[in-house]
Amino acid sequence: MKQFLLITDLDYTLVGDDEAMAQLNQQLDFHRQQYGTKVVYSTGRSPFLYQQLASEKKLLEPDILVCSVGTEIYINGSQDPDSTWADKLSQAWDRNLVKTISATFTELQPQAESEQRDFKVSYFLDEKIAGQVLPELERALLEQGLDIQVIYSGGQDVDILPRHANKGMAMTFVRQHLEIDVTKTVACGDSGNDIALFAHREEKGIIVGNARPELLDWHNANPNPNRYLATAKFANAITEGLQHFGFLE
Ligand code: GLC
Ligand code: MG
Repeated sequence: MKQFLLITDLDYTLVGDDEAMAQLNQQLDFHRQQYGTKVVYSTGRSPFLYQQLASEKKLLEPDILVCSVGTEIYINGSQDPDSTWADKLSQAWDRNLVKTISATFTELQPQAESEQRDFKVSYFLDEKIAGQVLPELERALLEQGLDIQVIYSGGQDVDILPRHANKGMAMTFVRQHLEIDVTKTVACGDSGNDIALFAHREEKGIIVGNARPELLDWHNANPNPNRYLATAKFANAITEGLQHFGFLE
């Protein structure tokens, strides 16, 4: 067995089955001590909501925490997001204009203030009308020359981010920071904001058996031998995938 880098989403991926997570955590902790394996969380949550989850569930302390859909990177327990990453994102980002244009879409309900971040503007949108509203929203933002992307997750969450920030771009940053090769890196997820962890990527990917249709549909339309769709759910799916790729026995 050797070192690897695990980058995992939290809600409905690592977190969802407490017993399965406890078992996986034990293996990961051992691997970390024995082989220098790294554990990175990549969540849509703000640091505030991450702390809330960490107070409710027995999570391992991550080596790096990526919050707010790839827009904030916290290294080695730092309280401040990595400034190199923040500087890069701030270059072509006009948060006020994003908000002003989005506010004209009455179908969008703003999320809690804690989830409105420097590089992330977030709303709720009913799944029934999302297929119609999202392209219109994206077009309206792009027409203003905004360099953004719109991500829909969990059949309810809309995140508007700088074009160069998502979970996938953050994974590249993290991997380079840790100096771990693509072949030793594996990412896990269940929903729309995790697609960036799998799209046009050379790293290995694990999709949990309980993944959302938005991710499964994308996966079926974009096959890739580096990506494994697990049968099991939540943390058991991660274990299944890590065994599939030979990272765990
Ligand atoms: C988390 C965040 C929320 C975001 C969602 C999807 O739930 O709290 O702001 O919209 O993830 O990325
Ligand atoms: Mg999730």
